[in-house]
Amino acid sequence: MKPTIKHFLTLLDVSPEEANNIVQRGITLKAKQKNGEAHPTLAGKALAMIFDKASTRTRVSFETGMFQLGGHALFLHSGTTQLGRGEPVEDSARVISSMVDMVMIRTFDHAMVEKFAEFSSVPVINALTDLTHPCQILADVMTFVEHRGAIQGKTVAWIGDGNNMAHSWINGSVTFGYTLNIATPDGYAVDEDVLTLARSKGAKINICSSPQEAVQGADLVTTDVWASMGQEEEQKIREAAFKVYQVNTALMSHANDDALFMHCLPAHRGEEVSSDVIDGKQSVVWDEAENRLHAQKALMEFLMGVL
Ligand code: CP
Ligand code: NVA
Repeated sequence: MKPTIKHFLTLLDVSPEEANNIVQRGITLKAKQKNGEAHPTLAGKALAMIFDKASTRTRVSFETGMFQLGGHALFLHSGTTQLGRGEPVEDSARVISSMVDMVMIRTFDHAMVEKFAEFSSVPVINALTDLTHPCQILADVMTFVEHRGAIQGKTVAWIGDGNNMAHSWINGSVTFGYTLNIATPDGYAVDEDVLTLARSKGAKINICSSPQEAVQGADLVTTDVWASMGQEEEQKIREAAFKVYQVNTALMSHANDDALFMHCLPAHRGEEVSSDVIDGKQSVVWDEAENRLHAQKALMEFLMGVL
């Protein structure tokens, strides 16, 4: 019988135990890398990286991660592939997956990644769609664990847009067992289906009426840009709607004294976060960015059956 292919399209594709193992393995791999200990667990394997959107962290972390694991990564920009010229997703999936061992995709429509996975003969990783960004949460939880220990039972506050990052924090509350408080402006709420599914799986999620309410008792405060990739023309209108949703010192003063601040980056200082918060003592954004590398190496090992 053909073995089942493991994909990572949302955090709900892994069990809580698997997700925690990936995080712990990320911490181990980070130590190995820092100690100069070779760990070529994916020697001879290839990862195709399909990008329909810009990226700094995701590209550098996956490409470097494959190199450190002894494998190879191919950067495929939509503008230079036949996929970008209209070759059907299912045809591209069959062909690309016949030559590589894993595929990573960053695109707009989440359904494209689902379709690619359906026709792929190898694991597919969602490296950001308009709906979710699950790789980021692996790195973020790893960062919380490094700084504060287990995240289960802690409280996370999401402030800002009901976007792909918000949805992945929602899914993460199922997988990692934290309580999630969400504050979004009118008209920018999270997706009802994502919320309903997470709640049906036991997630503790509170929709709050203000940022101040959401950060009460929070161990971690997190936010993201007000206009995501593909929404650039909405920037001005969003600035007005999100004005009182800035994470600044005044807002952080309502959270727990030892609350951490996270942001997936890139950040817009003076918009969704003030400089004194993102560059201040509670911010762990640089660890969070670096941990993309370590957490995703663990994820790739898991999908390849090495972990
Ligand atoms: N956080 C994140 O995914 O960053 P990039 O867009 O730079 O990959
Ligand atoms: N919400 C942002 C995240 C970038 C990593 C975007 O989709 O542009």
